[in-house]
Amino acid sequence: MTFRLSYLLLLAGASIAVPALGVDIDLPPETATFKPSPLPGYALVQQHCMSCHSVHYVQTQPPTSLRSYWEAAVKKMKKPFGAQFPDDDIPAMVDYLTRVYGAERAGATPVAAAHPPAAKESATVQPPLPARPHRAGHAR
Ligand code: HEC
Repeated sequence: MTFRLSYLLLLAGASIAVPALGVDIDLPPETATFKPSPLPGYALVQQHCMSCHSVHYVQTQPPTSLRSYWEAAVKKMKKPFGAQFPDDDIPAMVDYLTRVYGAERAGATPVAAAHPPAAKESATVQPPLPARPHRAGHAR
């Protein structure tokens, strides 16, 4: 009985080891990399921002994130999180992040960056919008 049991365990061990030799690991495609860009910060984020966590952290930030937000985020990676990149690389990385993932990316509505909404609202009282007739397009 004892012999049989250890024999089985041996077999089980062997069958675990064998497939490991020929395994192909498919990494998830493109989503795991920074978006290519001609900006100099592209190479820098690839170099400095993938050692502790995936690009996912960047991808999941709100697309409305302002330059100041990215700057604070990048600085936080250095202190307190302990990332090892030179301060000189920060502006280029912040520029890349803001223009590729944040409020200044192509196609972003140029909202809050230049005109904070609070200032606008207090300056002028908006007249109520005239009621618009419903579009006919709703009918099936
Ligand atoms: C030394 C390790 C390290 C490096 C290098 C690093 N990060 Fe992080 N990062 C962290 C940690 C730790 C967190 C927080 C994780 C958590 O909250 O679970 C984080 C979180 C984030 C987040 C999520 C939002 C937040 O503020 O918590 C973003 C965005 C981010 N990192 C961007 C970057 C960018 C951009 C770079 C390159 C400039 C970078 N990280 C390099 C450690 C690092």
